[in-house]
Amino acid sequence: MTGKTRIEDRGPAVVFTGVVKTYGRAGRTVRAVDGVDLIVERGETVALLGRNGAGKSTAIGLLLGLDTPDSGTVRLLGRSPERAVRAGLAGAMLQDGRPIPRVTARELVRFVASLHPHPLPVAETLGLAGVTAYADRRVDKLSGGQAQRVRFAVALAGDPELVVLDEPTAALDVEARRSLWESVGKFAERGGTVLFSTHQLEEADRYADRVVVMDRGRIVADGSGEEIGRSVGGGLVSLDPAGLTGLELASLPGVVHVEMADGRAQLRTDDSDATVVALAAIGAVRDLRVGRATLEDAFLSLTAPPDREADTAAPTVTRVGQEAV
Ligand SMILES: Nc1ncnc2c1ncn2[C@@H]1O[C@H](COP(=O)(O)OP(=O)(O)O)[C@@H](O)[C@H]1O
Ligand SMILES: [Mg+2]
Repeated sequence: MTGKTRIEDRGPAVVFTGVVKTYGRAGRTVRAVDGVDLIVERGETVALLGRNGAGKSTAIGLLLGLDTPDSGTVRLLGRSPERAVRAGLAGAMLQDGRPIPRVTARELVRFVASLHPHPLPVAETLGLAGVTAYADRRVDKLSGGQAQRVRFAVALAGDPELVVLDEPTAALDVEARRSLWESVGKFAERGGTVLFSTHQLEEADRYADRVVVMDRGRIVADGSGEEIGRSVGGGLVSLDPAGLTGLELASLPGVVHVEMADGRAQLRTDDSDATVVALAAIGAVRDLRVGRATLEDAFLSLTAPPDREADTAAPTVTRVGQEAV
């Protein structure tokens, strides 16, 4: 944000090109990151949203140069991740719970700042992270939420252009979450770029300009929360199927997903009007209801539980309960 050389920088904050990272060896491998292409522009706040095991932490490790991809390239602020991190251009709050040191927040931030070429003034870092009020208390005596904001201060100490936060609120209560997001928001308002991971859709939608949904190592959706809802068929049509099968319903115009449960058919459609017209044409309008899917529905339909192989390309027919499809 400040500093003289940075004004010359060109290019996005983050560029992933065809990135693959596999764990394990012959026979038993996990493609933790499976061909990811992603660009994050400077100044954006982007949520990486996915279930546990989706590959978020692996992607973040690659982004920060903590790990190297098997194939593909990662660029951070126009440089290799190693160079960008060493220059203090990217700060991070990682998921692993490293032991909390027995020093004060001010001492910790001062030490981290001393490692960077163009650090923020310590008082400014403490203020930005919202820890000024308890900066002289030992970090290991703070509450979970306070300690997490100190970790955010550590991420800011080098005056980064980008902060990367891996599930930053996972262990926090509602109030601590709110305070942390307030601090993150201040950093973003100053022009900083934020990439955070979460498995909570509501958090992604509320705090990010853009939500990138990751599932089994791949990006399966990318857009605003509203766009993601629409892309999976934001329209919901439910009806008494009166003998129509799930497959018949799945073939109707607009329908992207059918679920049969408790004697009702739930259709997810990207064109409610066309779907309803088609239902009317075949006389299937018994107890018809039309609504909109929630963002949570969209997330769930985009990401498969770990033990289920879903084919997202074709309309899917999901069976719930004992109702035959
Ligand atoms: N060091 C590792 N060794 C082996 N497998 C790993 C390792 N790290 C992650 N994985 C596997 O890679 C996949 C993605 O994990 P991860 O990136 O931690 O996902 P997330 O952060 O979204 O929960 C999971 O299947 C996980 O078990
Ligand atoms: Mg993780």
